[in-house]
Amino acid sequence: MNKNLHESILLADDIRLGVDQLVRSKLPTILVAPAFPFLYSVSQTLGGHPSIATAAQNCSTERCGAFTGDVSADMIRSTGARYVIIGHSERRSIFGETEALICRKVLAAYEAELSPILCIGEKLEDRTSGKYFDVVKKQLESALSSCSGEQILKTIIAYEPVWAIGTGVVASSAQAQEMHAFIRQWLTPSFSMEYAKSVPILYGGSCNPGNVRELFSCPDVDGGLIGGASLQAGDFLSIVKAAME
Ligand code: PGA
Repeated sequence: MNKNLHESILLADDIRLGVDQLVRSKLPTILVAPAFPFLYSVSQTLGGHPSIATAAQNCSTERCGAFTGDVSADMIRSTGARYVIIGHSERRSIFGETEALICRKVLAAYEAELSPILCIGEKLEDRTSGKYFDVVKKQLESALSSCSGEQILKTIIAYEPVWAIGTGVVASSAQAQEMHAFIRQWLTPSFSMEYAKSVPILYGGSCNPGNVRELFSCPDVDGGLIGGASLQAGDFLSIVKAAME
């Protein structure tokens, strides 16, 4: 919940201009995820850019109807967005989103032909008590067990240890790689090795221009979900450049 309409458009425009100065053939997929009211304007600002797409930060479980204040996946798609973040730790902890609700949101995203960016990750107490694999496994099972191979190929997973989000404490590359490999391993029996390799697994939590190179060098870290460092075009573009190396 950062930036108003004017600021969101300026940021998207600065990102677009910066991206256009980079080598086109090496560009990764770049997503920007403004707040709901600005999705359409930001999509328009990006003007159908071949490498930058828009994502919403949340969606309803429902398609339409009397759900005052909710925003459906269909509505999001109609703004030009093609992705939606689901199950961010702040949605889970502040807004009480349960595993069952998150699973319904993932299904709602598929139904509207949006790619879900499923956020998972353990709290500090799960890390210190050594239960972090169990927690992440449960989150994966609850959200993705019922999805088809075709659906999993549209899915992005973001591993975001809660203790690293907005704290300035970043997971070490060894911790990130260990968990990303675990997630890929979890995908393999259900969806085949080929499919498991195709699912992008992003790392999120205090990524910044100074630490992403090391994180992105891990074999199972396919990219990042960037919070604070995405609020300044310069920092975000440095992270895009690191992803190109
Ligand atoms: P951060 O946020 O990069 O500021 O830690 C990540 C997130 O909100 O997912």
